[in-house]
Amino acid sequence: MKPLVILTHPMPGDWIAPLQERVRLVVGPEGVAGVDASLQPYFAEAEGLFTWLIDRVDDALLAQMPRLKVVSNLAVGVDNIDLEACSRRGIPVGHTPGVLTEAVADLTLALLLSIARGIPAAAEDARAGRWGLWRPDQWLGAELHGSTLGIFGMGKIGQAVARRGHAFGMRILYTSRSARPEAETALGARRVPWEVLLAESDFLCLHTPLTAETRGVVNTDALRRMKPAAYLVNMARGPVVETDALVQALQEGWIAGAALDVTDPEPLPPDHILYRLPNCLITPHIGSATHTTRRRMAEVAIANLLAGLRGEPLLHQANA
Ligand code: GLV
Repeated sequence: MKPLVILTHPMPGDWIAPLQERVRLVVGPEGVAGVDASLQPYFAEAEGLFTWLIDRVDDALLAQMPRLKVVSNLAVGVDNIDLEACSRRGIPVGHTPGVLTEAVADLTLALLLSIARGIPAAAEDARAGRWGLWRPDQWLGAELHGSTLGIFGMGKIGQAVARRGHAFGMRILYTSRSARPEAETALGARRVPWEVLLAESDFLCLHTPLTAETRGVVNTDALRRMKPAAYLVNMARGPVVETDALVQALQEGWIAGAALDVTDPEPLPPDHILYRLPNCLITPHIGSATHTTRRRMAEVAIANLLAGLRGEPLLHQANA
Protein backbone atom coordinates (compact mmCIF):
# COMPACT_ATOMS: atom_id res chain seq x y z
CA MET A 1 0.00 0.00 0.00
CA LYS A 2 1.26 3.49 -0.89
CA PRO A 3 2.08 5.76 2.07
CA LEU A 4 -0.43 8.42 3.09
CA VAL A 5 0.73 12.03 2.74
CA ILE A 6 -1.13 15.11 3.93
CA LEU A 7 -0.72 18.20 1.75
CA THR A 8 -2.13 21.06 3.80
CA HIS A 9 -3.57 23.10 0.91
CA PRO A 10 -4.27 22.57 -2.82
CA MET A 11 -1.45 23.14 -5.33
CA PRO A 12 -1.42 23.19 -9.14
CA GLY A 13 -1.97 19.66 -10.45
CA ASP A 14 1.09 19.57 -12.69
CA TRP A 15 3.35 20.65 -9.80
CA ILE A 16 2.27 17.76 -7.58
CA ALA A 17 1.77 15.10 -10.28
CA PRO A 18 5.06 13.32 -9.39
CA LEU A 19 3.85 13.02 -5.81
CA GLN A 20 0.38 11.85 -6.72
CA GLU A 21 1.84 8.86 -8.59
CA ARG A 22 3.74 7.61 -5.56
CA VAL A 23 1.57 8.30 -2.52
CA ARG A 24 -2.02 8.49 -1.38
CA LEU A 25 -2.46 12.23 -1.17
CA VAL A 26 -4.97 13.91 1.11
CA VAL A 27 -5.29 17.62 0.45
CA GLY A 28 -6.47 20.19 2.99
CA PRO A 29 -8.64 23.22 2.26
CA GLU A 30 -7.78 26.52 0.64
CA GLY A 31 -8.10 29.83 2.43
CA VAL A 32 -7.29 28.69 5.95
CA ALA A 33 -3.91 29.00 7.62
CA GLY A 34 -2.65 25.96 9.44
CA VAL A 35 -3.21 22.22 9.33
CA ASP A 36 -7.00 22.19 9.20
CA ALA A 37 -9.03 20.15 11.70
CA SER A 38 -10.84 18.47 8.78
CA LEU A 39 -7.59 16.55 8.13
CA GLN A 40 -7.61 15.00 11.59
CA PRO A 41 -9.10 11.64 10.51
CA TYR A 42 -5.88 11.11 8.50
CA PHE A 43 -3.39 12.07 11.21
CA ALA A 44 -2.99 8.56 12.67
CA GLU A 45 -2.06 7.08 9.30
CA ALA A 46 -0.01 9.95 7.82
CA GLU A 47 3.61 9.15 7.01
CA GLY A 48 4.34 12.44 5.28
CA LEU A 49 3.28 16.03 5.96
CA PHE A 50 3.69 18.60 3.18
CA THR A 51 3.27 22.11 4.63
CA TRP A 52 3.23 25.75 3.59
CA LEU A 53 4.80 28.54 5.60
CA ILE A 54 1.37 29.52 6.91
CA ASP A 55 1.03 26.19 8.75
CA ARG A 56 2.13 25.72 12.34
CA VAL A 57 3.71 22.34 13.11
CA ASP A 58 4.16 21.89 16.85
CA ASP A 59 4.55 19.08 19.34
CA ALA A 60 0.79 18.76 19.91
CA LEU A 61 0.25 18.13 16.20
CA LEU A 62 3.17 15.70 15.94
CA ALA A 63 1.79 13.74 18.91
CA GLN A 64 -1.27 12.97 16.80
CA MET A 65 0.83 11.59 13.94
CA PRO A 66 2.61 8.52 15.35
CA ARG A 67 3.62 7.17 11.93
CA LEU A 68 5.04 10.44 10.59
CA LYS A 69 8.40 9.99 8.84
CA VAL A 70 8.98 13.42 7.29
CA VAL A 71 7.78 17.03 7.25
CA SER A 72 8.43 18.94 4.03
CA ASN A 73 7.96 22.72 4.08
CA LEU A 74 7.43 24.62 0.82
CA ALA A 75 9.77 27.44 1.90
CA VAL A 76 13.34 28.09 2.87
CA GLY A 77 12.21 29.52 6.23
CA VAL A 78 11.13 26.99 8.84
CA ASP A 79 10.07 29.27 11.71
CA ASN A 80 6.54 27.80 11.41
CA ILE A 81 7.87 24.41 12.49
CA ASP A 82 9.05 23.32 15.93
CA LEU A 83 12.34 21.84 14.73
CA GLU A 84 13.33 20.56 18.16
CA ALA A 85 10.08 18.67 18.58
CA CYS A 86 10.61 17.07 15.17
CA SER A 87 14.20 16.14 16.03
CA ARG A 88 13.14 14.63 19.36
CA ARG A 89 10.79 12.37 17.45
CA GLY A 90 13.40 11.57 14.81
CA ILE A 91 11.45 13.35 12.07
CA PRO A 92 13.53 15.16 9.43
CA VAL A 93 12.22 18.55 8.25
CA GLY A 94 12.80 19.43 4.60
CA HIS A 95 12.97 22.95 3.18
CA THR A 96 13.83 24.61 -0.14
CA PRO A 97 16.99 26.73 -0.02
CA GLY A 98 18.95 27.58 -3.17
CA VAL A 99 16.22 27.47 -5.80
CA LEU A 100 14.66 30.74 -4.63
CA THR A 101 17.83 32.75 -4.04
CA GLU A 102 17.90 34.73 -7.28
CA ALA A 103 14.16 35.46 -7.35
CA VAL A 104 14.21 36.85 -3.80
CA ALA A 105 17.35 38.89 -4.50
CA ASP A 106 15.69 40.31 -7.64
CA LEU A 107 12.64 41.44 -5.68
CA THR A 108 14.87 42.97 -3.02
CA LEU A 109 16.48 45.19 -5.63
CA ALA A 110 13.09 45.94 -7.18
CA LEU A 111 11.78 47.18 -3.83
CA LEU A 112 14.97 49.05 -3.07
CA LEU A 113 14.77 50.89 -6.41
CA SER A 114 11.04 51.47 -6.00
CA ILE A 115 11.35 53.22 -2.66
CA ALA A 116 14.58 55.01 -3.53
CA ARG A 117 13.05 56.54 -6.67
CA GLY A 118 9.47 56.77 -5.46
CA ILE A 119 8.26 54.71 -8.43
CA PRO A 120 4.82 53.70 -7.08
CA ALA A 121 3.87 57.29 -6.18
CA ALA A 122 5.20 58.75 -9.44
CA ALA A 123 3.37 56.11 -11.49
CA GLU A 124 0.19 56.80 -9.55
CA ASP A 125 0.56 60.54 -10.15
CA ALA A 126 0.88 59.90 -13.90
CA ARG A 127 -2.14 57.58 -13.95
CA ALA A 128 -4.20 60.08 -11.96
CA GLY A 129 -3.53 62.95 -14.40
CA ARG A 130 -1.02 64.75 -12.20
CA TRP A 131 1.70 64.67 -14.88
CA GLY A 132 2.15 68.37 -15.70
CA LEU A 133 4.98 69.91 -17.69
CA TRP A 134 8.40 68.49 -16.94
CA ARG A 135 10.28 70.34 -14.25
CA PRO A 136 13.65 69.72 -12.67
CA ASP A 137 12.63 69.60 -9.03
CA GLN A 138 9.80 67.07 -9.03
CA TRP A 139 9.69 63.34 -8.16
CA LEU A 140 13.25 63.40 -6.88
CA GLY A 141 14.65 60.26 -5.27
CA ALA A 142 17.80 58.77 -3.85
CA GLU A 143 20.62 57.07 -5.82
CA LEU A 144 21.89 53.59 -5.25
CA HIS A 145 25.26 54.34 -6.83
CA GLY A 146 27.75 55.43 -4.18
CA SER A 147 25.40 54.62 -1.30
CA THR A 148 25.89 52.03 1.43
CA LEU A 149 23.97 48.78 1.30
CA GLY A 150 23.65 47.10 4.69
CA ILE A 151 22.75 43.42 4.70
CA PHE A 152 21.57 41.70 7.87
CA GLY A 153 21.89 37.96 7.33
CA MET A 154 24.56 37.10 4.76
CA GLY A 155 23.33 33.66 3.72
CA LYS A 156 22.69 32.69 0.10
CA ILE A 157 20.08 35.42 -0.42
CA GLY A 158 22.09 38.11 1.38
CA GLN A 159 25.08 37.32 -0.82
CA ALA A 160 22.96 37.40 -3.99
CA VAL A 161 21.71 40.86 -2.94
CA ALA A 162 25.29 41.93 -2.23
CA ARG A 163 26.32 40.91 -5.77
CA ARG A 164 23.52 43.01 -7.20
CA GLY A 165 24.32 45.95 -4.93
CA HIS A 166 27.97 45.78 -5.97
CA ALA A 167 26.93 45.85 -9.63
CA PHE A 168 24.94 49.03 -8.87
CA GLY A 169 28.06 50.67 -7.41
CA MET A 170 27.06 50.36 -3.75
CA ARG A 171 29.41 49.90 -0.80
CA ILE A 172 28.50 46.66 0.94
CA LEU A 173 28.41 46.18 4.72
CA TYR A 174 27.00 43.10 6.41
CA THR A 175 26.19 41.65 9.79
CA SER A 176 25.96 37.90 10.00
CA ARG A 177 26.74 34.94 12.25
CA SER A 178 29.37 33.75 9.77
CA ALA A 179 32.06 35.71 7.94
CA ARG A 180 31.83 35.56 4.15
CA PRO A 181 35.42 35.89 2.92
CA GLU A 182 34.35 35.28 -0.71
CA ALA A 183 32.02 38.28 -0.62
CA GLU A 184 34.73 40.35 1.05
CA THR A 185 37.24 39.51 -1.68
CA ALA A 186 34.92 39.65 -4.69
CA LEU A 187 32.65 42.54 -3.66
CA GLY A 188 34.69 44.43 -1.09
CA ALA A 189 31.99 43.62 1.47
CA ARG A 190 32.89 44.39 5.09
CA ARG A 191 31.51 42.55 8.12
CA VAL A 192 30.52 45.00 10.86
CA PRO A 193 28.71 44.87 14.20
CA TRP A 194 24.92 45.39 14.15
CA GLU A 195 25.19 48.92 15.60
CA VAL A 196 27.58 49.96 12.82
CA LEU A 197 25.29 48.43 10.19
CA LEU A 198 22.39 50.46 11.57
CA ALA A 199 24.38 53.69 11.73
CA GLU A 200 26.04 53.49 8.31
CA SER A 201 23.51 51.88 5.96
CA ASP A 202 21.62 54.02 3.46
CA PHE A 203 19.64 50.92 2.57
CA LEU A 204 19.27 48.25 5.23
CA CYS A 205 18.03 44.90 3.88
CA LEU A 206 16.92 42.10 6.20
CA HIS A 207 17.60 38.54 5.05
CA THR A 208 17.92 36.68 8.33
CA PRO A 209 15.87 33.65 9.39
CA LEU A 210 13.36 34.36 12.18
CA THR A 211 14.82 32.92 15.39
CA ALA A 212 14.68 33.78 19.08
CA GLU A 213 17.69 36.08 18.51
CA THR A 214 16.35 37.89 15.46
CA ARG A 215 12.73 38.34 16.60
CA GLY A 216 12.17 42.08 17.10
CA VAL A 217 15.80 43.13 16.48
CA VAL A 218 14.57 46.05 14.43
CA ASN A 219 12.96 47.80 17.38
CA THR A 220 12.74 51.41 18.58
CA ASP A 221 16.38 51.47 19.63
CA ALA A 222 17.56 50.07 16.29
CA LEU A 223 15.38 52.41 14.21
CA ARG A 224 16.60 55.41 16.20
CA ARG A 225 20.19 54.47 15.33
CA MET A 226 19.50 54.58 11.58
CA LYS A 227 20.12 57.64 9.40
CA PRO A 228 17.07 59.86 8.79
CA ALA A 229 17.70 59.42 5.04
CA ALA A 230 17.93 55.62 5.27
CA TYR A 231 15.50 53.02 3.92
CA LEU A 232 14.60 49.67 5.44
CA VAL A 233 13.75 46.64 3.29
CA ASN A 234 12.34 43.56 5.03
CA MET A 235 12.55 40.37 2.97
CA ALA A 236 12.96 38.05 5.96
CA ARG A 237 9.96 37.52 8.25
CA GLY A 238 7.58 40.16 9.61
CA PRO A 239 8.40 39.68 13.32
CA VAL A 240 12.08 40.58 12.75
CA VAL A 241 10.73 44.16 12.79
CA GLU A 242 8.57 45.54 15.61
CA THR A 243 5.62 46.87 13.64
CA ASP A 244 4.57 49.61 16.07
CA ALA A 245 8.12 50.92 16.31
CA LEU A 246 8.35 51.01 12.51
CA VAL A 247 5.07 52.91 12.21
CA GLN A 248 6.38 55.54 14.63
CA ALA A 249 9.74 55.71 12.83
CA LEU A 250 8.03 56.29 9.48
CA GLN A 251 5.55 58.81 10.87
CA GLU A 252 8.16 60.80 12.74
CA GLY A 253 10.88 60.66 10.09
CA TRP A 254 13.46 58.66 12.01
CA ILE A 255 14.06 56.94 8.66
CA ALA A 256 13.09 57.96 5.12
CA GLY A 257 11.03 54.95 4.20
CA ALA A 258 10.49 51.22 4.22
CA ALA A 259 9.61 48.43 1.81
CA LEU A 260 8.12 45.32 3.33
CA ASP A 261 7.56 42.04 1.54
CA VAL A 262 6.76 40.46 4.89
CA THR A 263 4.81 41.95 7.77
CA ASP A 264 3.64 41.21 11.29
CA PRO A 265 0.83 40.22 11.23
CA GLU A 266 0.52 38.50 7.89
CA PRO A 267 -1.56 39.08 5.90
CA LEU A 268 -1.58 42.71 6.96
CA PRO A 269 -5.25 43.70 7.44
CA PRO A 270 -6.56 46.10 4.77
CA ASP A 271 -7.17 48.88 7.30
CA HIS A 272 -3.64 48.76 8.73
CA ILE A 273 -1.99 52.16 9.14
CA LEU A 274 1.16 51.03 7.29
CA TYR A 275 -0.79 51.10 4.01
CA ARG A 276 -1.62 54.75 4.56
CA LEU A 277 1.94 55.93 5.13
CA PRO A 278 3.30 57.45 1.90
CA ASN A 279 6.85 56.36 2.73
CA CYS A 280 5.95 52.69 3.09
CA LEU A 281 5.66 50.20 0.23
CA ILE A 282 4.13 46.82 0.94
CA THR A 283 4.08 43.70 -1.22
CA PRO A 284 2.24 40.54 -0.14
CA HIS A 285 5.11 38.11 0.59
CA ILE A 286 6.05 37.57 -3.07
CA GLY A 287 9.84 37.22 -2.74
CA SER A 288 10.02 33.84 -4.45
CA ALA A 289 6.90 34.29 -6.56
CA THR A 290 8.11 33.59 -10.09
CA HIS A 291 6.76 30.75 -12.25
CA THR A 292 10.19 29.13 -12.42
CA THR A 293 11.05 29.42 -8.75
CA ARG A 294 7.74 28.30 -7.28
CA ARG A 295 7.76 25.23 -9.52
CA ARG A 296 11.34 24.43 -8.48
CA MET A 297 10.39 24.87 -4.82
CA ALA A 298 7.63 22.32 -5.33
CA GLU A 299 10.12 19.93 -6.97
CA VAL A 300 12.57 20.22 -4.08
CA ALA A 301 9.82 19.89 -1.47
CA ILE A 302 8.53 16.75 -3.18
CA ALA A 303 12.04 15.30 -3.47
CA ASN A 304 12.53 15.94 0.27
CA LEU A 305 9.22 14.30 1.06
CA LEU A 306 9.84 11.18 -1.03
CA ALA A 307 13.36 10.77 0.38
CA GLY A 308 11.98 11.00 3.91
CA LEU A 309 9.31 8.41 3.17
CA ARG A 310 12.04 6.04 1.92
CA GLY A 311 14.11 6.73 5.04
CA GLU A 312 16.85 8.33 2.93
CA PRO A 313 18.66 11.65 3.58
CA LEU A 314 16.67 14.68 2.40
CA LEU A 315 18.03 17.00 -0.27
CA HIS A 316 17.81 19.86 2.22
CA GLN A 317 17.16 19.15 5.88
CA ALA A 318 16.58 22.03 8.31
CA ASN A 319 16.91 20.14 11.61
CA ALA A 320 19.75 18.04 13.02
C1 GLV B 1 9.53 32.39 1.91
O1 GLV B 1 9.35 33.30 2.65
C2 GLV B 1 10.36 31.27 2.21
O2 GLV B 1 10.79 31.12 3.36
O3 GLV B 1 10.60 30.46 1.30
